[in-house]
Parts: sequence; structure tokens; C-alpha cells
Amino acid sequence: MKIPPVKGTRDFYPAEMTVRNWIIDGWKKVSLRNGFEEYDGPIFEYLKMFQIKSGDEIVEQLFSFEDRGGRELAIRPEITPTLARMVNQQINSLPRPIKWFSVPRLFRAERPQKGRLREFFQWNIDIIGVDDVLADAEVIFCAVDYLRGVGLGGDDIVVKISSREMLAALLQTIGIAESELEGLYAVLDKRSRLPEDAFEEMLAEKLSDKDKRKKVLDLMSVETIGQIEDLLELSKAAKEAVDELKRLFKLLEVMGVSDYCVFDIGIVRGLAYYTGIVYEIYDKGSELRAIGGGGRYDDLLKQFGGPAIPATGFGIGDCVLAILLEEKGLLQKQLPGRKLDYFVACVDESYKDAAVKLTMKLRSAGLAANFSYKAAKLGKQLKQASEQNAGKCIIIGEEYEENKLVVKDMASGEQELIDCDKFFAEFKS
Ligand code: HAM
Repeated sequence: MKIPPVKGTRDFYPAEMTVRNWIIDGWKKVSLRNGFEEYDGPIFEYLKMFQIKSGDEIVEQLFSFEDRGGRELAIRPEITPTLARMVNQQINSLPRPIKWFSVPRLFRAERPQKGRLREFFQWNIDIIGVDDVLADAEVIFCAVDYLRGVGLGGDDIVVKISSREMLAALLQTIGIAESELEGLYAVLDKRSRLPEDAFEEMLAEKLSDKDKRKKVLDLMSVETIGQIEDLLELSKAAKEAVDELKRLFKLLEVMGVSDYCVFDIGIVRGLAYYTGIVYEIYDKGSELRAIGGGGRYDDLLKQFGGPAIPATGFGIGDCVLAILLEEKGLLQKQLPGRKLDYFVACVDESYKDAAVKLTMKLRSAGLAANFSYKAAKLGKQLKQASEQNAGKCIIIGEEYEENKLVVKDMASGEQELIDCDKFFAEFKS
């Protein structure tokens, strides 16, 4: 009986593993150079942790189970709640601001589709303890820093930015009650993914007043911050949020990433815990699902039983990113090429032990080396060496009796006869 892989999961054969490692290494490098420290948490948590503030969409997609002790657990669909829990746990001893990153493997029982699977990796960058919009600008910079580094320019991707605080104030100005906001965000977040009539139907379910609905739709159609100011008289709260957004765009300019960033009032975010600046990253033209998204979540630590500490951060998944890099022809050429420093071949079975001994010596000296299990014809072994991307091939034959090695450069094809002692002395130095 052949057992297929589970729907929405991936098998990482070595070729896929190279891509995954290259993406994750890049995320880690960028995090470290931007001053972030790595953390991780458990793969499963108490179910209720994800029910507190992640929002209905994520809760519906949870893989949950009961353990033998009758505890209700869930496999993590995101790491932000774990981060909030961990920070709260050591809040008095952690030096602030906290700048942490993580690359968790996450699980969501979504309908698998292009760029959305049931198991994926997600790069998380979060700053806790800074309420200045400078921290939001810094995390957006980190995302662009990575994406720009892998060759995606302002013509390829866009960071669409808005503010939930501003939207809340504007919606309240047009008569939406505070208690209705969270439900409305969930609908507005789906707008770009739904046909117009389906969206309007969903909106009508949440908002029965036709006049208010029209006002909401008018508001959600504005294209610039200026147009909001023309459409509505801004309340004090709305004005403050608009000023904060303007400052964010100014900072992004100072940081040199404004050519990637646009204002988009349609960005609301699906997760319930966001409180301020929110953003999502898309391919230009939005052919694919979001590459990443994030924002400010100033109340989450408090909702998890800790003190009120401001926080901001994002998550970028590996799926859409890999599709986009592949489509743009940026993936294959950036993957690490050569794998082996040396391949050790032997001309016949009698030199096999010598080949094994030499290979192990090379490995112990920190070099990547391999040998052939069978003393096949030399041509076949050289083929293996080139398939394994060896930089050099050492051929062990009768010269070895005189303490000499034949070293072949696989790229140029040139061969050298080197004294064994000299060879080892050279790479030791
Ligand atoms: P999110 O928008 O749910 O945010 O996910 C962020 C990114 O993770 C998405 O844009 C996408 O790239 C990737 N992603 C999400 N679901 C899937 C899936 N089923 N398959 C493949 N990739 C997926 C969060 O998770 C927030 N916790 C991010 C955050 C960190 N906010 C503040 N700090």
C-alpha cells in the first residue's frame, strides 16, 4: 500500500531543502544584521491561547487535539501569541526594548491553494516595548531589506500600509459603534479576495443600515490620505492616527525604502489583535496571495495577563516568496552551488582503504569530502564527483605508494601531483 503525503504538506527532497535552507538562512542573516535575537517556542500550546485574540479565521483553521491528560491543545498556526506569553513570563528580567526574531514551522488547516498550504515556515520579526512609529518603520525596513537583498525591487513588490487606529476613528465618525468594529474588520479584510457582490453581501450581514454601508464603501475607496481629509471631518483621534501614518511614510523615506511602500486603506489584517499601523506585502499586481503581513498590537501582552506594553512586528511565509522568486527567475541562480570540497576516487579496489582513510582525514579537518562506495571505473567516479559538485577530485593510485596525491581541479580539468605531507600542511595552515 502506497501512502501519499497529507494534503497541504510538502516533502523536502534535497533540491527543495536547498531552497528552504537558503530562504531561512537569508531571513536569519537579515534579522541579525538588523539587531534582532532569535527565540523559539513549543510547537503546541493550550488551545485557549489561540482563541483569546487571534480572530475567528485562525481559530477555524486550528489543528487541535486532546492529550492523554484531557488537556485541549492546538498546533501553532502562528507564533505571536507564544511570543506574548514568553515575554510576559519574564517581563521583569528582560531588557527592553525586546527585538526578537523567529522562524517557526506553522500549521493551518486552510484550503490548500497556490501559496497557501497547511504547513509552512514563517519569518517573524517583533519589537516589544517601543510605542514610537519608528519601530514600525524599522520592522518594515527589515522586510524590504531582505526582499531587496534577494533581488525583488520596487517594481516587483509593494508594502501596502494603513492604520487600524485611523480606520477605527473614521468608522466611528460615520456612526459605527466601537463594539461593531472587530466584526467589521474581519469582513473588510476579505474585500480584495472576494467578488464585489459576495463582499457586499457579507458587509450587509454585518451592517444592516444602507446609508452607513455606503459611507463605509466610499471610505474604503479612497486612494490617498489626502482624499480621507476631503471626505470626512477628522476627529481628534483620526487626526492623530493620520499624523502617525504620515510620520511613518516620512521615516520610510529616510530609511530609503519608500519606493516599496504605498498607503492602502484596504489593508485591515485578518488577525484580531492589531491596534495601529498595519501592512501587507504583495507582488506588484497582486496576482498572488500576500507574501507577508504585520502591524502593531499594543494590547496583546495585557490580554495575555501581562502589563500594557506596546509591540509591533510581521510574519513572512516561505510559500508565496518561493513562487515569486521562481517566477522572476531569481531563485535558481542564487541557490548555493558547490557542495563538496573534495571527492576521493581510487583507481582500483586495492586503494579503497586509502581512499576511505584520506576522506575521513579531510572531513576531520573540516572539509566536505566524499568517496565512492565501489571502486568503479575512474571515469564513473569522476562523473560522481561532478554530480556531487566537488571542487576537486583526489585520485588515489600507484603514486600514493610514494606518498603523492593526484589532485584534479574539476572546473579546469587540470591535474597536479602533490606530496601528501605538503597537501595536508597546506590546508592545515
Ligand atoms: P498572517 O498574515 O496570518 O500574520 O501571516 C503572515 C504570512 O504568513 C502570510 O502573509 C503568508 O506569507 C504566510 N502564511 C499564512 N498562512 C499561510 C499558509 N496557510 N500557507 C503558507 N503561508 C502562509 C501572522 O501570522 C502574524 N502572527 C504575523 C505577525 C508577527 N504580526 C505581528 N508579528
